[in-house]
Amino acid sequence: MAKKLWGGRFSKKTDPLVEEFTKSIDVDYKLAKHDIMASLIHTKILAKAGLISCPEAKIIYNGLVDIKKKLDSGKFIFDKNAEDIHTAMQNELEKKIGNIALKLHTARSRNEQVVFDIKRYCIFEGSNIDKLIEDFVRQVEGMANSNKDVILPGYTHMQHAQPIEFKYYILAYAHMLKRDSCRLNDALKRLTYPLGSGALAGTSIVGKLYNEAAQKVYKGMQHPFFKVVENTIDNNSDRDFVIEILNTLAILAMHLSRMAEDFIIWSTQEFGFIEIDDAFCTGSSLMPQKKNPDVLELIRGYTGEIYGNLVSVLTMMKGLPLTYNRDMQLDKKPLFSSVKIIKDELIILTKLIKSVKINKLNIEKQLNDESLYATDLAFYLATKKVPFREAHEIVGRMIKDSLTLNIKIKDMNDRELKTYSHFINKQVIRNIFNPKVSVNSKKSFSKRNLPIKIEVCQE
Ligand code: ARG
Repeated sequence: MAKKLWGGRFSKKTDPLVEEFTKSIDVDYKLAKHDIMASLIHTKILAKAGLISCPEAKIIYNGLVDIKKKLDSGKFIFDKNAEDIHTAMQNELEKKIGNIALKLHTARSRNEQVVFDIKRYCIFEGSNIDKLIEDFVRQVEGMANSNKDVILPGYTHMQHAQPIEFKYYILAYAHMLKRDSCRLNDALKRLTYPLGSGALAGTSIVGKLYNEAAQKVYKGMQHPFFKVVENTIDNNSDRDFVIEILNTLAILAMHLSRMAEDFIIWSTQEFGFIEIDDAFCTGSSLMPQKKNPDVLELIRGYTGEIYGNLVSVLTMMKGLPLTYNRDMQLDKKPLFSSVKIIKDELIILTKLIKSVKINKLNIEKQLNDESLYATDLAFYLATKKVPFREAHEIVGRMIKDSLTLNIKIKDMNDRELKTYSHFINKQVIRNIFNPKVSVNSKKSFSKRNLPIKIEVCQE
């Protein structure tokens, strides 16, 4: 095991099994650049507070900048024997600048460092996800725009309900994703600045210094992240921000899963509404004819992992007394996992949507089902002052007779139609049993028009 950040009070070596069991470097190495940022800020604070001299601060600062450069170049090799990323970065600095590095950890704790690192990770990845949501929404809008005249049967309970415009249907997903973006940005707004908390009780350094140092490093950018920590116990104890993000990603995954499911159903031989491009399907090792929508199935399937990640952190946190407990180390794997899955899904689904072909003929065939216009006919009767329950009953009977007598309502003659209501005749049926008339008669929605504006939160 690499050099530890503790050990003075121990008279025995740590059991190798314990070292292996407790270390988190395999997971939290991803936080390296954020950990360096925390150290850069902390160096400035220590100098301002007079706890290190200016020349010492310069050496530490430059050493950290060198490590950052190596990290950015992708050439940095992590010491997989270090306990965690904080230890790995501290040891690296020591290797670089010698004993002065030992002053960096003055008046700080890994307990606050880790909160800073995860919050900064969330701000970065939150902004990346937001951009991907925006791309996705634009692609959905594109799909809506290029299929403006397509009308398809709408379903409730997976049964034919009423005709709807394809663009209107698909844009529902853009609205859902827009709310996901708002939820994400809202959660990010609550990420307050954690440095200055110490192990739990705060430190002797005046809070304002943390704030000023952060402002300097971030060149005066406005974000609640730069406020002085209000309650150090709250800061080091809670991971509600991780849970909020995981929750947002779980809802987003649910939306993507439902879209995937729609596409899977529409691409079946039974529906044949869409064709998914070969590039986004896979085959069978046995059945030569197969073209399977595996990408969409995996998007549906990964939702389980994403829900699991949320439940895992919620459960891990529920019984913990304040403040820091090592259990909390386990928040990172689920967070990183959900972030990665969601990013991959948004990228691949956006590309897949672009390649989808709409099979208008197959969709149009379904619009011949007269039951799709039953509600419109009942509405028509209601406009003639027939009580709606009575109108519902009349049209229900017409549908039943049509099915049992095996005759289309459109083919019934005026005399037959009049037996249901004197307001109904062949002309009325011809006018009403029409997909365009049906969708154009719906006036209740306001925002049918494109585009949808997405707010993007950037650090
Ligand atoms: N690696 C730990 C985590 O991710 C942070 C270290 C705090 N450890 C400690 N013994 N106080 O939560």
